[in-house]
Amino acid sequence: MTAVRPDTTPQQAPEATDFPTGFLWGAATASYQVEGAAAEDGRTPSIWDTFSRTPGKVRNGDTGDIAADHYHRYRDDVALMKRLGLKAYRFSVSWSRVQPTGRGPAVERGLDFYRKLVDELLDAGIMPVATLYHWDLPQELEDAGGWPERATADRFADYAAIVSGALGDRVGMWTTLNEPWCSAYLGYGSGVHAPGRTEPAAALQAAHHLNLAHGRAIEVLRAQLPAAAQTSVTLNLHQVRPLTDSAADVDAARRIDAVGNRVFTGPMLRGEYPEDLIADTSHLVDWSKLVKDGDLAAISRPVDALGINYYTPTLVSTPVEGADYARSDAHGASDHSPWPGSEHVAFHLAEGKPRTAMDWSIDPDGLYNLLMDVHRDHPGLPLMVTENGAAFDDYVSPEGKVEDPERIAYLHGHLDAVRRAVADGADVRGYFLWSLMDNFEWAYGYSKRFGAVYVDYASQRRIPKASAHWYSDVIRRHALPP
Ligand code: NOJ
Repeated sequence: MTAVRPDTTPQQAPEATDFPTGFLWGAATASYQVEGAAAEDGRTPSIWDTFSRTPGKVRNGDTGDIAADHYHRYRDDVALMKRLGLKAYRFSVSWSRVQPTGRGPAVERGLDFYRKLVDELLDAGIMPVATLYHWDLPQELEDAGGWPERATADRFADYAAIVSGALGDRVGMWTTLNEPWCSAYLGYGSGVHAPGRTEPAAALQAAHHLNLAHGRAIEVLRAQLPAAAQTSVTLNLHQVRPLTDSAADVDAARRIDAVGNRVFTGPMLRGEYPEDLIADTSHLVDWSKLVKDGDLAAISRPVDALGINYYTPTLVSTPVEGADYARSDAHGASDHSPWPGSEHVAFHLAEGKPRTAMDWSIDPDGLYNLLMDVHRDHPGLPLMVTENGAAFDDYVSPEGKVEDPERIAYLHGHLDAVRRAVADGADVRGYFLWSLMDNFEWAYGYSKRFGAVYVDYASQRRIPKASAHWYSDVIRRHALPP
């Protein structure tokens, strides 16, 4: 089988309603959210299996035990992707499936699932885009201390070697981590995600070790993959805005930008941690001890592209009465802030904007501004929108249809933002809709539906929503509808 290679032809200037030649149209999922088969073929528990079994952590006590049963239905799912005309599928590999204890030899049966999935995609003419880590740390590694421990980064490099060794001949596009902000700050700060710890210092240690894990994995991937393969990392960069122009609110925005964005882009793309971040958090960690010699060189190994996930902007101010201090752009309620060192910054929802079922305000300009900001700050770095989408309260009509005009409007607005950013010079190479299908939305369980395809969990029947047909049409035209 010939591997599909990323299109490296130079990007052409787009027409008014057009996207660049070679622009990759995709959809995304993640292992724990869709696969199910939690105890099959040698897989052992990850932190999300443990967390979702802990009473009170996930809505309705939902778990990923069955999820969308993608592990057994991947052939039908790929056939559906083909019918929809997708050019790329972004999925993640379950560490617990291929290296169950997080160390030692690989389990071939676990790897076989991904070999078969990738072959099926290539046969269908769909480019596989593999993410190594989308939040499901093997439980044994958490038992040994998890991401706040430096050794976890070493384990990740070994794991990256196993997966790239097995799939490197057929996967041309690789992402190390998905949204390390969530792994570090929701996992170890606010505790609304696995492993559910609420220790601000540990959250920062986790952020550094995730950065290091990324750098070590890039080194491994570059050594093992064919030269044409592309490497990347996906960040949920926050489009941070101050509530007012007051100096205090502007400073709150700076703090959140430092601890939320530049804590990753600084070491990864500039080879240094920002000085203001170090100053803001020095009461929590001693950065001079946390960051060892050689770490920054490892973390800043070049990537071929930066993946950006965007859903909603982040509006902040100094403390005000009645404000929500634990709120982030995501993912569940907690008495603890996910922002280490910035616990007193207040978060707001934009007034007068429509919201999704997550209560996130809908603001496509945020995506445009984010892409332009990253383009300005890191010129020459190819970008990919690796996630964008919305949850709404979808239901199947008596005629068996799912009409989701709000999602179509959301996608239209955000794709138009991408188009505008491209027209204004940002080098955006692709767009991945989150998500291909409804799935396990972390602390919200199955209560939130992000899919372009509806999943009836009782029967596991897939029903493409109106938005899936709309997206199909966009892909076919390579342009937004007039
Ligand atoms: C980002 C995460 O990568 C994904 O797993 C999640 O489902 C979506 N955001 C929606 O919250």
